[in-house]
Amino acid sequence: MTKVSTYEIDIVKAQTSKIHDVDFDNLTFGRVFTDHMFYCDFIDGEWQQPKIKPYGPMSIDPSARVFHYGQAVFEGMKAYKDDHGGVFLFRPDENFARINKSAKRLAIPEFPKEYFFEGLTTLLKLDKEWIKSGEGNSLYIRPFVIATDSAIAAAPSDNYRFMIICSPAKAYYKGTVKVLIAEQFSRSANGGVGFAKAAGNYAAQFYPTNLAQEKGFQQVIWTDADTHTFLEEAGTMNVFFRIGDTLITAPTSDRILDGITRKSLIQLCEDNAIKCDVRPIKVDELVEAYKNGSLKEIFGAGTAAVISPISAFEHRDTVYNLPEINENSYSSILKQKMLNIQHNLAEDKHNWRYEVK
Ligand SMILES: Cc1ncc(COP(=O)(O)O)c(C=O)c1O
Repeated sequence: MTKVSTYEIDIVKAQTSKIHDVDFDNLTFGRVFTDHMFYCDFIDGEWQQPKIKPYGPMSIDPSARVFHYGQAVFEGMKAYKDDHGGVFLFRPDENFARINKSAKRLAIPEFPKEYFFEGLTTLLKLDKEWIKSGEGNSLYIRPFVIATDSAIAAAPSDNYRFMIICSPAKAYYKGTVKVLIAEQFSRSANGGVGFAKAAGNYAAQFYPTNLAQEKGFQQVIWTDADTHTFLEEAGTMNVFFRIGDTLITAPTSDRILDGITRKSLIQLCEDNAIKCDVRPIKVDELVEAYKNGSLKEIFGAGTAAVISPISAFEHRDTVYNLPEINENSYSSILKQKMLNIQHNLAEDKHNWRYEVK
């Protein structure tokens, strides 16, 4: 672990809160930010004193390497409030481990665990009014690291900034989602950075996703780069397929993000006697299951929406419409179970909740 120079957070509080200007019933995802932000600079081989300041623009040199080489990683997590005002995170250790796994792949120094948790919990306590109780309400938390060296040489930076910003959120995807199965473009390749939450992974998806949207699809389901025959994951979600009464999801690899929602759902399936196979699945198997009537559901799984039911997929210019979901669909059952755990409404036998006290 990287050497740490000091522990105490230097806090400057916002003089006035922006909260009264926010319409919490009509939030657009990721547009509104809370009153404070956390940051910590890496200089001369050490993480410096962590700071919390009022949220706002900051000054970075135009030559900073993040702008030129995309040396940046991030995380996405949520805080929830129960009806008694308790604030909870969901499996934050996993986000902490993953940001450092991503950082390592991008040659970024690891961030210390105690800074991450102290920064996160201090920030959440300062901005806790921004977390609204009730199902579907949450505070989306975005930790990220950027390379800040003022130098345009194509080499890893010597200096970095780790930050956490927070944005109040309602349920992310509204309604069902239609997806296009990728045949031309790829999200990631063997030996690449697909498993990391590297900023560039997302930039590279925008153009193919725009093309899909022009055809009336909201998302792309990525296939393996070599053959485009195996189903991998969606833009910001892992994917599950229900054939008969069995769920199937692709194994993680260096091409696929090891989603926290995905791994939690696999566990919930085990807890609730729902068969879930983790194995490679081919597009042909999906089309075959559709044709013989055994394909019952497809859904995406990720922090933003928990579960997003998919209503149709397109492959080679044929659109396959899926049956409508109902309260007995696996997506409905599993989503409710996850939300109940996240919102402190159900037993948490795997200790996934982390109370912010
Ligand atoms: C590419 C990708 N796959 C899957 C996921 C789902 O991961 P998680 O459940 O940890 O949010 C995300 C979102 O974070 C993602 O960006």
